Amino acid sequence: MPQGLKRGLTHYGDADFSRYLRYSFARSMGYSGKMLSRPVVGIAYPPSGFNNCHRHFPDLLEAVKRGVFAAGGLPLEFPTISLGEAFINPTSLMFRNLMSMDVEEMIRAQPMDSVVLIGGCDKTLPAQLMGAASAGLPAIQLAAGPMMTGSHEGEQLGACTDCRRFWAQFRAGEKSEAEINRIESRLATTAGTCPVMGTASTMACIVETLGFMIPGTAAIPAVHADRLRASEATGELAVRLASDGLTPDQLLTDESIENTLRVLLAIGGSTNAIIHLTAIAGRAGKEVSLKTLNQLSDTTPLLVNLKPSGIHYMEHFFAAGGLGAVLRELKPLLHLNCLDISGQTLGERLEREDAYVDHQVIRPFTEPVEPNGGLVALFGSLAPQGAILKRSAADSSLFEKKSRAFVFNSLEDLSSRIDDPELDVRPDDFLVLQNAGPRSGTGMPESGYLPIPVKLSRAGVKDMVRISDARMSGTAFGTIILHVTPEAAVGGPLGLVRTGDMIELSVSERRLDLHVPENELQKRRNEIKDFPELKEKNSERGYAWLYQNHVLQANQGCDFDFLKAK
Ligand code: FES
Repeated sequence: MPQGLKRGLTHYGDADFSRYLRYSFARSMGYSGKMLSRPVVGIAYPPSGFNNCHRHFPDLLEAVKRGVFAAGGLPLEFPTISLGEAFINPTSLMFRNLMSMDVEEMIRAQPMDSVVLIGGCDKTLPAQLMGAASAGLPAIQLAAGPMMTGSHEGEQLGACTDCRRFWAQFRAGEKSEAEINRIESRLATTAGTCPVMGTASTMACIVETLGFMIPGTAAIPAVHADRLRASEATGELAVRLASDGLTPDQLLTDESIENTLRVLLAIGGSTNAIIHLTAIAGRAGKEVSLKTLNQLSDTTPLLVNLKPSGIHYMEHFFAAGGLGAVLRELKPLLHLNCLDISGQTLGERLEREDAYVDHQVIRPFTEPVEPNGGLVALFGSLAPQGAILKRSAADSSLFEKKSRAFVFNSLEDLSSRIDDPELDVRPDDFLVLQNAGPRSGTGMPESGYLPIPVKLSRAGVKDMVRISDARMSGTAFGTIILHVTPEAAVGGPLGLVRTGDMIELSVSERRLDLHVPENELQKRRNEIKDFPELKEKNSERGYAWLYQNHVLQANQGCDFDFLKAK
């Protein structure tokens, strides 16, 4: 039963007085006694002047509140941290766990019967869901929705796959400074999240597949009137959840997680999503295994023809049938008994839905974009606990290759040398970046998309194998191997690679091996006195200290060790 404002009283040593005091202050907001006796729907609300993707949140909030009021509840929003991807130093992932703690603790500390989580920009949806899963209250999520595309000289474009493409052309001398500056204001033109299948859109699809979002709403564009209608419906459903709603642990099951991995593979989703899904699952005591990912990847076709893996944008995905169309194509592979937040099973949802699908954008199961899933995990002597490759956005001619390593030992080393015209780097080299993982002190930035050295890009080289313990933006593309675990900073073999060593990549065999004898590796290990992890430990304070000492490796979702479910 909803308890409304009576829930979780402030401690003054006299419960009746605490209740009396709370209602006195609540009355100061101008609500009637009748209104204050309604079930309370909390609304986690992260707008920010530093978050362009959330600039329409006031409109979404108003529509959610409208839905809550109409259904007989009392909506009370509370601000949380907001993470605007391009505005956070050193990188937003570092603050995802902080946002999750903010959301979890404020859900628990304040009197609400259910919660609406409004999020969008990359880390915000996973952070909110991690927090809500730990808090255990019925929770429903509402995504910002993708922005609309812009255009430049007749070409449709959108952040940030095209940001990277044009920037690479500029670096290669194919675009002038005047043109790249003109393009700057045409890449991100409306409110909403990046309009490709980047991390934000992938996470919205994941949240809907897990069942935490109203079916059919993940891909609605941010500025479409349907997004406001979805917001109103979300508020309305949140009131129902306040009485007898499903709790997050009822939705986070082994079956729903497997369905979600299938969807991730079929949409060509972001590599970041593996980290986030692992962290979300970990809050419910569930594991996401990279070995399982590979098994599913072998039997799940890539169906969605969207950038960065394909050619279309999120507005096309929505018009083509959205996530519902993908789920219908995947139906024979899915666990249809999984519930969503409305209480229906996935099977019931798919029976009810409109069957329209535009097969230009969402391919039939029998004629996929690729027969296998978009992501694959690699293991071997260079990545004993795994690494990730987004093969759908990579150059398959580089998939079976043995080559010389060219090593940058830090982000500083990378930026100071990558454009040196004298650099002894060759088109066939594997570029290696060390010390950019979770415990490196860098926060595991999206630096795995190493730029092609200028001397090679000007010679026409478009792609190279790049290997690191960093991440990459979901909007990026290239033959980029990420999340190498264990990372260099904790003594992983990646930190022992030296320029000139031979590395062998075999995507068909899921292998990534360093061909250096063990005695030589041991010698190098002995020479490293200070791993960056150890150096940083004593020099930090506050949140940086907490992060440095408690963040887990990429294969465990980069969550804090003390936040996972016991
Ligand atoms: Fe916010 Fe891409 S910058 S989703």
